[in-house]
Amino acid sequence: MKKSLLALLGILMIASLALTACGGGTTPAATQPPAATEAPAATEAPAATQAPAATEAPAVTGSVGVVLPTKDEPRWIQDETRFKEAFSKAGYDVEILFSQGDSAKEKANVEALISKGIKVLIICPQDANAAAAAAEEARAAGVKVITYDRLIRDTDAVDYYVTFDSIAVGAAQAQYLGDKATGTGNPLYLYAGAASDNNAFIFFEGAWEVLQPKIADGTFVIKNSSEAVALQDKATLTRDEEAKIIGQVTTDWKFDVAKNLAEANLTAASAADKGNVFILAPNDGTARAIADAFAADKDVSSYVVTGQDAEEASIQYIIDGKQSMTVLKDVRTLVDDAITAAVAYLEGKTPEQTNTYNNGKIDVPAKPSEVVTVDKDNVKEAVIDSGYWPASDFTGLQ
Ligand code: BGC
Repeated sequence: MKKSLLALLGILMIASLALTACGGGTTPAATQPPAATEAPAATEAPAATQAPAATEAPAVTGSVGVVLPTKDEPRWIQDETRFKEAFSKAGYDVEILFSQGDSAKEKANVEALISKGIKVLIICPQDANAAAAAAEEARAAGVKVITYDRLIRDTDAVDYYVTFDSIAVGAAQAQYLGDKATGTGNPLYLYAGAASDNNAFIFFEGAWEVLQPKIADGTFVIKNSSEAVALQDKATLTRDEEAKIIGQVTTDWKFDVAKNLAEANLTAASAADKGNVFILAPNDGTARAIADAFAADKDVSSYVVTGQDAEEASIQYIIDGKQSMTVLKDVRTLVDDAITAAVAYLEGKTPEQTNTYNNGKIDVPAKPSEVVTVDKDNVKEAVIDSGYWPASDFTGLQ
């Protein structure tokens, strides 16, 4: 059943206004311009739900489709839930398709949405390079392409990048490890995301910038990557150098890969390489898997382990003292930014830009959002009081 395009516009405008009102952008000014452009309607505020139906309708047509990478990680279920909340608040079911870790399925999803007549595609690529073909198909069909959270690489068929500040994610993880370490010779274990995900490189880059001086001054000693040891005197790494390290310590964003790698690293390490250890884990799912492996090793007396995403299971781990920190990337903000950008395109405008990210072919316009470090000390304030997760979902919360 086809929904009225005009109704969708109205809904998107309302969602945009409501979400803009929620704030969360990097600068207060940043979230305002899109609302400001709708100012003429503002004087007749009650008309907001009706306005699109009558007067301004002809300028804007089309709808939005969303493609997310996998249902197998809680992170992307979060995004699905938040997208649904944002759209359904206004009575509209946005179509959200999952690629289940398969680039061929992702392309088929994009083609299905194109054939349904979408005008804007919001896509989080499973594989940064493989998704280029799908983006190019969308572009050829006149669809605006918003690459969501992860950058699509090596194509010019990307219009906008909705993202968090991923350098800041890696830097926050590394900073946390550095803040918890005293003295010298602290064993450091490095883990990274999937090499097919551009973010894995950006997270690692952000972390390396903070960790490298602490490796150079002897605070940390890398225990599980000969490639990282070979590069440890370099303050800044090239992408190829990062790829060498990531190739050795990748979790592929998979819990079982993370667990097996951590176990293999622990088996290879001597008791002297253990003790009080520091672990750069790239996200929450892999952090829990890696933490479980380290917790089970009798020669590990304590560990500090990072994460990201503020997944519920990891919030519980933090409360229980099994994971040290996570980086909250408020998905409500990302969804807000994505809808605001989509509405801008539907209105024939250009979304606001504060940054660009080079994708190997072009500089993609973007407006990255801030991230928040969360540990036991601020978990209640950052995650519960902010309304991100309900207190009732956890036990042992102080
Ligand atoms: C996202 C993370 C996520 C990871 C694994 C990254 O691209 O930014 O939030 O944990 O992919 O899905």
